[in-house]
Amino acid sequence: MTSENTGEQKDVSSAELTANYRCAFPELSGDTLSLLLSSNSGRVLAETFISKYNYPLAKRKISVCAGYFLQETTRLIQTGLYDSVISFASGFSLLTYLIADKNPQFSGLFFDTDLPYMVKQRNERIAAIADKHTTPKILRKLHSMDFDIEQAYREKCTLEKIFPNCKRPIFILEGVSYFLSPGCVDWLLKQMSSYDCSAVTLYYWPENMLERSALFARVFKDLNKGMIKEELKSFWNASTLANFRKYFPIVSDCALETVEAKMVNDVSECQLVDPNTFFPVRLVTGERELKRK
Ligand SMILES: C[S@@+](CC[C@H](N)C(=O)[O-])C[C@H]1O[C@@H](n2cnc3c(N)ncnc32)[C@H](O)[C@@H]1O
Repeated sequence: MTSENTGEQKDVSSAELTANYRCAFPELSGDTLSLLLSSNSGRVLAETFISKYNYPLAKRKISVCAGYFLQETTRLIQTGLYDSVISFASGFSLLTYLIADKNPQFSGLFFDTDLPYMVKQRNERIAAIADKHTTPKILRKLHSMDFDIEQAYREKCTLEKIFPNCKRPIFILEGVSYFLSPGCVDWLLKQMSSYDCSAVTLYYWPENMLERSALFARVFKDLNKGMIKEELKSFWNASTLANFRKYFPIVSDCALETVEAKMVNDVSECQLVDPNTFFPVRLVTGERELKRK
């Protein structure tokens, strides 16, 4: 059997899936653009993944998460406390572009980071759509940077040195925490909280996901078998969460279902109801702030 007819495309990043899915419900995600950064093989894998695992709600799940990060980052920017937005593992997501567009008054810095080969592809693909689909003034606000989180952890780097002009950063970790080793997650949380004033918004895979979701258990069997390029390395357990709360004193930690329910006009519109039909991830925002102005 070839990898094509088993639905595997070993060299296609999971960022292709999320670029496609986040634009499926733009009324939730606010995103119609990221899809334009996806390649043809990315689009094929996005559809194959859904049919292989009978997971149509993947699109809804990612759209809700994307909308949450846009809302949360906007809320944090509007406190007036922060001077920068740093997105780790941005993949092909144009979230920072949408944030800059929604917050024209914000004069802070924006960084999109990922593994070097991903940053290269991202920049090439943005350049290809820029003229027709983006506003140069907004695009100019975004800086891209190679940043391998695991390597920075191994080399004991400090975020303050890597991003010297970001003194009060908002960090975004969209769809990457489970691709990091447990030690790296702890290092990163500690680093992100090493500022007098910083915040982070992310989603994580709780360790009870296997018990809560028959769908996730089905997909889990194939993870790390080359189904997607990146490897699953960690779930969050009680100790990760305790650390998170220690590092970030103000915490909101919500089930995906709860976030969707807040986004829709009427509860009858909710689609993420039975965790057996989607990945029941949790969305979290942590803040450590100086006294408000
Ligand atoms: C599921 S995609 C998420 C992409 C994007 N944030 C989104 O939500 O559409 C996971 C991303 O994590 C990145 N990634 C994996 N390991 C990484 C590491 N050690 N350092 C930086 N990025 C990493 C991949 O390159 C990929 O772009």
